[in-house]
Amino acid sequence: MSTPNIVVAFGGLSPEHEVSVLSAMQAISALEDTEYTIIPLYISKSGRWLTGNVLLDLENYQDLDDLTDRATACTFAHDDLGKAVLLETEKKGFFSSPKQHSIHAVIPAFHGSEGENGAFQGACEMYNIPYAGSGVFASSLGMDKVKAKELCRAHEIPVVDGFDFYEQQWADYQPSLTEEARLLGYPLIIKPVTLGSSIGVSRADNEEQLIEAVESSFRFDNNLMVEKAVTPLMEINCSVLGSPENMQHSVCERPLGKEETLSFEDKYQSDGSGEKGMASADRIIPADIPDELSGQIQSLSQKIFATFRASGVARLDFLVDADTYDVYFNEINTIPGSFSFYLWKESAINMRELMLELIKIARQQHRKKMGRIRTYETNLLSEKAVKGIKGLKGTKQDS
Ligand SMILES: Nc1ncnc2c1ncn2[C@@H]1O[C@H](COP(=O)(O)OP(=O)(O)O)[C@@H](O)[C@H]1O
Ligand SMILES: [Mg+2]
Repeated sequence: MSTPNIVVAFGGLSPEHEVSVLSAMQAISALEDTEYTIIPLYISKSGRWLTGNVLLDLENYQDLDDLTDRATACTFAHDDLGKAVLLETEKKGFFSSPKQHSIHAVIPAFHGSEGENGAFQGACEMYNIPYAGSGVFASSLGMDKVKAKELCRAHEIPVVDGFDFYEQQWADYQPSLTEEARLLGYPLIIKPVTLGSSIGVSRADNEEQLIEAVESSFRFDNNLMVEKAVTPLMEINCSVLGSPENMQHSVCERPLGKEETLSFEDKYQSDGSGEKGMASADRIIPADIPDELSGQIQSLSQKIFATFRASGVARLDFLVDADTYDVYFNEINTIPGSFSFYLWKESAINMRELMLELIKIARQQHRKKMGRIRTYETNLLSEKAVKGIKGLKGTKQDS
């Protein structure tokens, strides 16, 4: 009997495309020599779905055009029995019919955009495929910084004050928006509502810098938010693993940036190679903060994970006022860089165990969903039932 297939899905139309490749390669190498066969599903920068062994080696990503030529186009499909498969849609080699692979579970390893915002998760739902990590709801909410904060406020989770606006509103009402910013009080942080990795995030100490920052951030998103800068700032992150019903938290980490605002370079290019992804960024683990503060952040992390109905592994990021130790929730990453594996070492969970746990949770969640009644045997459109409904073509009662 063949071993179960795990599809690791990554890439995608996202500024964090390369970071996703790194997270996927880490997941793939962690699952080597396990009971699973790994099938890569790489979404190219132009949106093509590709598979093939050529995608399993990081070396091959240096020339993306060559890589996409050598890989094989694929898609989700149903086999003859109606079960979801990964279907190769072009013929490579000597196979007479397109190859199809059964799917035990998918591990989405995307960062940003459609891979992390619930769109890809929705495709898995439509095909009834078990998948790791958060579902459609938590994924899309986690990607919208404004709506995420609104939900937090409703649950008394502390967040920084701020407001948001669209590009058209900025064009029409710039003076009143800059006045709102002044009332909020400088320094302020300007950021795109739906991006990640610090792309388009900047700080303004006065109105001139605000206008410059807003105009530059609109290159990345049609919706921006302006919020009070926490200063002096200490950033603390914590990971949660499980489901809203049964979860555990990791130790806290304190990521270190060269500047006060962590940039894309700080996060991924600190050793010049970028090869290790998030794990290579400078960080202190466990965070060098009082136990009481760690405990507060850890229990908030679990509360937020459950509030968002997250699943699998997530990383919760906090902004802490370094003078007062006031804690503000900043964002939830439903597919954290490198799956936050480095935060789980202290809990004696290594990358392989973390991946196996994600597969287990994915299968459990899927089984739970399948165990519920989702359709009725009775066909409401059977002739007898439809006859009573007026106004439908072909159901005229007097004919
Ligand atoms: N309100 C704030 N006060 C101070 N620094 C902030 C604030 N919001 C964001 N930052 C800084 O900007 C970085 C990126 O912002 P974040 O909201 O995490 O967006 P992203 O999704 O791009 O990571 C944070 O890691 C932090 O360094
Ligand atoms: Mg962040």
